[in-house]
Amino acid sequence: MAITLKTAADLAGMRIAGRLASQVLDMLTPHVRPGISTEQLDKLAHDHIVQVQGGIPAPLNYAPPGYVPYPKSICTSINHQVCHGIPNDRALKSGDIVNIDVTVIKDGWHGDTSRMFVVGEGSIAARRLCALTYEAMWLGISRVRPGARLGDIGHAIQTFAERQGLSIVREFCGHGIGRKFHEEPQVLHYGKPGTLDELVPGMVFTIEPMVNAGRREIREAGDGWTIVTRDRSLSAQWEHTVVVTETGYEVLTLSAGSPAVPAFVTPVSSVVQPATV
Ligand code: MF3
Ligand code: CO
Ligand code: CO
Repeated sequence: MAITLKTAADLAGMRIAGRLASQVLDMLTPHVRPGISTEQLDKLAHDHIVQVQGGIPAPLNYAPPGYVPYPKSICTSINHQVCHGIPNDRALKSGDIVNIDVTVIKDGWHGDTSRMFVVGEGSIAARRLCALTYEAMWLGISRVRPGARLGDIGHAIQTFAERQGLSIVREFCGHGIGRKFHEEPQVLHYGKPGTLDELVPGMVFTIEPMVNAGRREIREAGDGWTIVTRDRSLSAQWEHTVVVTETGYEVLTLSAGSPAVPAFVTPVSSVVQPATV
């Protein structure tokens, strides 16, 4: 199976799906407060995707080989949970950090994005981890242009995170995306410059580094999905879906509520879609 390149018409569809996924996070943002359960967030997201957006929540019943069907419409990964946390009836409390990962299917196209939220008052360490992971994601995105290689992205993310004393999860990676949720290529968040596939215009993939405050080792929590840090240290993740353009990249998962892009991201090599509407 090769990497599928998206046409201009495909990208028009993917822009819509990507913006819708980001808008789900915008909608959820004011609700992410102490006392709400992740199951309540899941219901808000599910109903918004289905009833307001006319879309499909891709995670619901998603069952890759070797997995039980995923039972909810979003992923909510709290504190030492790395990814794929399943919404439940426990209330968020002040000081928690939570990743909310949303994937919307619209007209057959997938848009996949996640953000970190600090619930109530977060510790300095928690806020630092979230902020540095956001920066790490954008450092990776900034490398995207024709002729660059996937290893350049991973290297930029890994060297930055490790210089800050953080660690990169190896077992999960970004992925091609389109008509399917997970396509080729795998986008590792560590690696060596000048290695792996060369980026060409029309490639669409996610960049979604999982960064741990402690050691990089993980384990599965026992529900078939939730991944946690072995040392129970905090973990953060951010995710965007990007397309390689002729001159650089375009981020497909921006919307009015997207956090500000870091100052080091210059408009020179990038066309960042100023998502409104
Ligand atoms: N959205 C996740 C990703 O970024 C995948 C979640 S799979 C699910 O690839 F089934 F847990 F939703
Ligand atoms: Co993804
Ligand atoms: Co995702």
